[in-house]
Formats: sequence, structure tokens, C-alpha cells
Amino acid sequence: MKKKILITSALPYANGPLHFGHIAGAYLPGDCYARFQRMQGNDVLYICGSDEYGIAITLSAELAGRSPKEHVDHFHEVNKNFFKTLNFSFDHFSRTTTKFHENPVHQFFNDLLNNGFIEERMTEQLYSEQDGRFLADRYVTGTCPSCGYPEARGDECQKCGSSFDATDLKNPRSKMTGAPLKLKETKHWFLLLEKFQDRLNEWIEKKNWKPNVVNFIKGYIKNLKARAITRDIRWGVPVPLEGAEGKVLYVWFDAPIGYISATQEWAEGKGNSDLWKDYWCDPATKLVQFIGKDNIPFHAAIFPAMVMGQNEPYVLVDELPANEFYNLEGKQFSKSDGWYIDLEEFFKKYSADQIRYAIAANAPETQDSEFTWKDFQQRCNAELLGKLGNFVNRVLVFAKNNTASAVPERGELTSVDAEFIKEVCKTVEEIKEAYEGFKLRRASQLIMELAQKGNVYFDFKKPWTAAKDPSLTPSMKTTINLCLETLKLLALVSCPIMPATATRIWNMLKLQGKVEEALWDDVVKNQFATGHLLSEPEILFRKVEDAEIEAEIAKLKEMSSKAAPKKIEAVKEAIVKGEISFDQFQQIDLKVGLIKHAEKLPKSKKLLKLLVDLGSDERTIVSGIAEVATPESLVGKKVVVVANLAPQKIMGVESQGMILCGSKESGLEILTLIDCLPGASIR
Ligand code: 2FM
Ligand code: ZN
Repeated sequence: MKKKILITSALPYANGPLHFGHIAGAYLPGDCYARFQRMQGNDVLYICGSDEYGIAITLSAELAGRSPKEHVDHFHEVNKNFFKTLNFSFDHFSRTTTKFHENPVHQFFNDLLNNGFIEERMTEQLYSEQDGRFLADRYVTGTCPSCGYPEARGDECQKCGSSFDATDLKNPRSKMTGAPLKLKETKHWFLLLEKFQDRLNEWIEKKNWKPNVVNFIKGYIKNLKARAITRDIRWGVPVPLEGAEGKVLYVWFDAPIGYISATQEWAEGKGNSDLWKDYWCDPATKLVQFIGKDNIPFHAAIFPAMVMGQNEPYVLVDELPANEFYNLEGKQFSKSDGWYIDLEEFFKKYSADQIRYAIAANAPETQDSEFTWKDFQQRCNAELLGKLGNFVNRVLVFAKNNTASAVPERGELTSVDAEFIKEVCKTVEEIKEAYEGFKLRRASQLIMELAQKGNVYFDFKKPWTAAKDPSLTPSMKTTINLCLETLKLLALVSCPIMPATATRIWNMLKLQGKVEEALWDDVVKNQFATGHLLSEPEILFRKVEDAEIEAEIAKLKEMSSKAAPKKIEAVKEAIVKGEISFDQFQQIDLKVGLIKHAEKLPKSKKLLKLLVDLGSDERTIVSGIAEVATPESLVGKKVVVVANLAPQKIMGVESQGMILCGSKESGLEILTLIDCLPGASIR
């Protein structure tokens, strides 16, 4: 029976260009799933749009010297075009500044308030006399209350990973001007999340989601407490109450409601303004939300709690395929660090399908993964060109030369033919299961296995020999018939990941309609009519040369070394630290340590647990460097360790030393050595 499937991908902030790291997390998996489910004949609605409010926007707009509106207008278009270039199939790409958005946001707020889940409280927030405004979250910088790092952000410390309110910082200052901040009373509204603990627990218990999502969220629900959902800024959805002038709703309150308002805008565009209810208000709808792992609490606890506490019959999320992070050559994508891929240049040389396939084949489904130029080259050459492109080309060229570009009849099957058909059908079924289970890596691998099975069969049957011997003509015809059927199935199964390539194969086979609108089961069932004419074969993929990949790697290194060093307040602060004597300095025992093992600390975005060889002994050290290096990339590195620092417990683990890093605006840079041996002293 036809299912109603409402699919969303996290609404990207319109505050900067998206990169392949984002695409691998919440977007490509969503697009492939939507395309797959449409081909299953289901009633699919795929919604996305720009997230345009909040401090992430205003801060970045101020830094860029634009108004928030100019800023979001610009990046909404940039990101919309990027999705277009990548051939995304959203049914609607909206934004949270549309006229549709405020209504449902106010409906949520009013219902939650009237139902006793929102409470007004007086709080003390940081106020800048110089700016004449309250500053929150990333507008504030100061000294971390946990580790003393002087440049901690207002919402979290990038050095030790602690998360806190800006009011917890010591010596809080304005991020923009450096001016000191004072506490001042202000009224805010709090969402009483703790009131949803039992309902959320009961609900999550029934979910068969990835273990990392379920475990994380179970822990999160245990510590639910009231959260401020208003801010003293002007850019956002106004609080719909008298006496709340100058206050707006916190972006994470309004953004998820953007999925609903975007669907309302879509319905209006369809000429039936109630059509959105067919999806959001029908319990038969399956709601599938694609997100990156940093969005888990909002989609698995906070937004579901908001839905539970309001009065409309909106559906709750059914599936939450959350992906891990996708890096670039071992580090996070970062334009300011010069660690990125110039997309305009990229798409002059490579196709959307090449990158869609490379990301899908290496998607960060169970752990962080990364784009490397070498992996990209290997996927393009050995897999797309060597397996898929090769099979398509050799079969079609052979048919052109030997069967007059017509599908030949299928004769009597040998056991090899029968086995080939069985294998092909089995693989197609496995690919279907992989798509159904959000497993793009598996689907990609199986697509290449299918193409390779075709190549092996073609080689084994040697139709070029059979073509020379009239007594073997029936066998040659059967081989080509079965190979052409396999090409048709390859177009089908590769369509969700590589829609353009699938279309080209489909067109070369001169099949009716569009492959992306074909029904999966019909394509599997219906065979070519004998004599069906084929089109001219075309080359699907070109070879990616070593020289161009080397040039790309060199360019990346050059961009990163040229990236302008950022002005850092921390450096200024260090200069004014009080003088110490040489003896005092000598008391700090700095040693070279060899990292022997590294792993992520559960429940922390920033912390890694390291085993470090100091020559004389081995130490466990907890370090806030998870965002600047993957565990694998650290093993074997020699770093600078403060060896005589008193041990301290960090998230339940005793840390027996500290790794030294330089600070920069986008995070940290680890100090490393090359020739020194573990245990050597640093002087
Ligand atoms: O993390 C982000 O990029 C957010 N803009 C995602 C929002 S998802 C939804 F709730 F709108
Ligand atoms: Zn800290």
C-alpha cells in the first residue's frame, strides 16, 4: 500500500556557504531516501529551507558588515543554488523569514504557555553598557569556569568541551568590542522541559533508532531542565505577549517549526492552503528527519516535547537517521583556515554525480569519515569508470556493432545465465533493503558489485567470440539480452544516488519516461521487448588523472598556509599576564609525549582520551582537541605534555597531564615535534 512519507533535512543556517561536510550529514542521505521512496510509489513530500534567525546569523552578519536581512537573503540564495547544482529533489526549499512562519511559532508558544509548560522568570543576563544591549551565547567571550581557558565562547568552551550559560563565564566580554559586561535583570520565558521527562522516556523506548542516537538521548532526558526560550535581541520571531517588546524567541524554538511553516508555504504554492495538514496532521504519516549528530537533542527531545505540549495533532518524528561528521583530509572544513574546496572550481571539473557517489560510498553513518582527494580519485576511476562506466559502455558498443543496436532475443538459459540472473535479482533486492535502512555506504558498494558481476559475466561469456561463430549466435544474443536487462537495473538502483548518470543510462536504453519517475517493482518485473532499439552509446565518466589530484592537494595546502592568521584576544591577554622568575618557569616539566592511542570521550563533542608514552611512563590525558583532529590522525604524533601538572578529573576520567596547543579563532592547533624521542624534555 502507498505510504505517506514526510521527509525533512535539517534547515541550514543562512550564514555562510554550505560545504560537502554538511552535504554528507543531513542532506545527501535525505535526498537519496526521498528519491528512493518516490520510486517505491510512495506519497513523498521532501521539505527543507534556510534557518534564518538567531545569534548564529546576527553575529556573522555583523562581522560581514551586513544587516541580518541582507545576510540571510544572500546565503539563502547561495545555498539554494548549491543544492540545485547537486541535483537535490526537495519538493520545497523555504526559509524561516516567510510570512507563514510566525503563525505556527506563536501557536506553539501560546499553547505551551496556556498548558503550563512555559513560565516567565526574572533572570540576570550579561549587559553591555557600551553597546546598550544584552549579549548572549556567542556574542560573549570570557574565561571558562571549568578549565580557565581565557577565550571560551558564551555557550561552550572550545578547549575543554564544557557547556554552560554565558553568565557562568569569568571576566565576560563582548565578542564584538571586547567591552566588559555586567549582570542586569531581565525577564525571560522558560520551557519546562523536565515536565516531559516521563512522556519522552516512554516514547523513545519504542524507537529502533541507531544505538548512538538512543543512548545519547536517554542520557540527555535524565537531566532535562528548564531552558530559556527567549532572547534580548531584535532579529527573530517576536514573543507574542504584552510586556515582551524587544524580545524574540530563541532560534531553536522557532527553527524546527520551520519544517511546518515550510510545508504550509508549499501547500499555498500548490493552490490548496490546507494540503500541509495531510502530512503534518495525519497519524498515518511517517515523519523521517535527516540531521547531523549535533542536532540530536533538538530533534529527539526538545522539539518532540514541544509537539507533545501543544494542542495541534502534529505527528512526532518516526525515524531520525543522524549522521556523524564528515571532514576534509583529516580536519574540519573551514573557509577561514583555508581548509576547503572551492566549489565553483570543483564543478567546472567534476560532476554532481561523482561527488554524490563519493560521499555516499563513504558516508559518516556510524563514525566520522572524510573526503580525501585520493579517495575521490579512486572512487571515480576504479569504481565509476572502471566498473559501472566500463560495463555500460562495452555492452552498448557491442550491441551497436553486433545486434544492430536492438535488444536481441533471449534464448535457452545455461546454468551460468540462470545463476547470473539469480545473482542480479538478489543484489537488486539487497540494494532496496540498504536504501530502506538508510545505508548509503552499503547501497553504493552493492551498485558497484552489480556492475562488476555484469563485467565478470560478459568476460566469461565472451560474446565477441560467439559473434564470429554462427552456431553460437543464440548464446551471444542471450548474453547481450541479459546484460541489457542488467543495465536497466543499474539505472534503476543508481538513480537515488546518481540521478544524472541513471538518466543517461536510461536514455541510452531508449526507455520511456524518466527513470526517477519509474516504479521500482515495475522496472524489475518488465523485460525489454525483443527488437527494442537502443540509442547511441556515450561515455559516462572520464578518468581523473594523478596530476590533477596532486594539484588539488597542493592547492589545499597552499590555501591553508596562506590563510591569514587571526587576531586573537587571548594572545593579547597572555602578554599582560604577570611576570614569573626563571625558577618558576623551570618548575613546569614539559616533555615530549608519543600518542599511542586516542579515542573519543562518550557524550563529549570536544574531548579525547589519549594514552601518551612519556618515555618513563604512560599517561592517560584528556584533551579538548576532538574538533581539530580525529583519533586516528593523532596516533603516532609527538606532542608537548605538561608532565607535572596535578591530575584532575574531567568527565569522570583522571587526566594526568596536559597537551599544549596554540589557539586560533576556529579552534586549536596542536604543537607537534618530529625528531625528538618520547620523554625528551622541552627547554
Ligand atoms: O545546526 C544547524 O545548522 C541548524 N540550523 C539546524 C536547524 S534544524 C531545524 F530544527 F530547523
Ligand atoms: Zn574550558
